[in-house]
Amino acid sequence: MFDLSKFSLEGKCAIVTGGGRGIGKAIALGFAHAGAKVVITSRKIEELEATASQIRAFGGQAVPIQAHLGKMAGIQQMVDSAVEAFGRIDILVNNAGASPAMASVLESQERLWDTIMNLNMKGLYFISQAVSRIMKQHGGGKIINISSIDGFHPERTVSIYSISKAGVRMITKAFAAELAEFNIQVNTIAPGPVHSKMMDSHWINLTPEAAQKAKAETEALMPMGRIGDPDDIVGAAVYFASDASNYATGTEIVIDGALLLAPLLNAPGVPI
Ligand SMILES: NC(=O)c1ccc[n+]([C@@H]2O[C@H](COP(=O)([O-])OP(=O)(O)OC[C@H]3O[C@@H](n4cnc5c(N)ncnc54)[C@H](OP(=O)(O)O)[C@@H]3O)[C@@H](O)[C@H]2O)c1
Repeated sequence: MFDLSKFSLEGKCAIVTGGGRGIGKAIALGFAHAGAKVVITSRKIEELEATASQIRAFGGQAVPIQAHLGKMAGIQQMVDSAVEAFGRIDILVNNAGASPAMASVLESQERLWDTIMNLNMKGLYFISQAVSRIMKQHGGGKIINISSIDGFHPERTVSIYSISKAGVRMITKAFAAELAEFNIQVNTIAPGPVHSKMMDSHWINLTPEAAQKAKAETEALMPMGRIGDPDDIVGAAVYFASDASNYATGTEIVIDGALLLAPLLNAPGVPI
């Protein structure tokens, strides 16, 4: 009979990149509530300290590590510090991601390509590599990559981000295939729109009225009628981090309030 305690993360050690705010923060808090010790890492130490304090306030363990994960030197240093903190790594959530500017394919600059790719793909790949080597020594582990529904279809003015997120889905499959024999499971979560600094920055320069209108227009596109909250992503992350998902690897969960299905809802019904 299935044992519900398989969802517990008691005694596990996790790294959550981008764990100081948004989706990463929600996952770090969720993991700590499920019993894991967490390393949270990003560039802004104040946000990391604040999240770590919130975790310690309910008796959890959290270590903030400041790192620029778009730079190779920052990556190895962060992984070494995480191992130093807890002695092992059972779970890695590659959540840190960025899309710092919007530009059409005719206008995108090389610098924008490098900034996005160095973090969203290169950083994610080499963090996974460094952590996988440690997991292999310890008999296994779980890697969760945060992609996006933009990795399923191109979105105007964020082509580089969309390409990077499609790449994340393939990194998951490549690592899952090669690491299966080492008992390392690698999976993707692909969120749709979720309130966070990244999402809400779309409206930051608008007047309150214009922001309200733009938000309502986005919500009107959503079959569920709302934009998600970071907590909407946590359950899938706990599943992929826990023993409940031991036979799942190289796969993905889309959490988007059915936005990917929206065009089908408006298409004329054709029996096939
Ligand atoms: N919100 C959405 O609608 C949505 C939808 C689909 C997918 N996603 C994905 O979900 C993930 C989390 O995004 P979010 O929405 O929670 O956005 P967010 O609030 O902007 O969080 C992004 C996180 O990444 C960290 N980060 C950015 N650049 C970094 C760097 N160079 N080195 C280390 N850390 C860095 C940020 O911290 P610092 O600034 O302190 O470095 C922050 O903690 C991203 O991968 C994003 O692509 C989000």
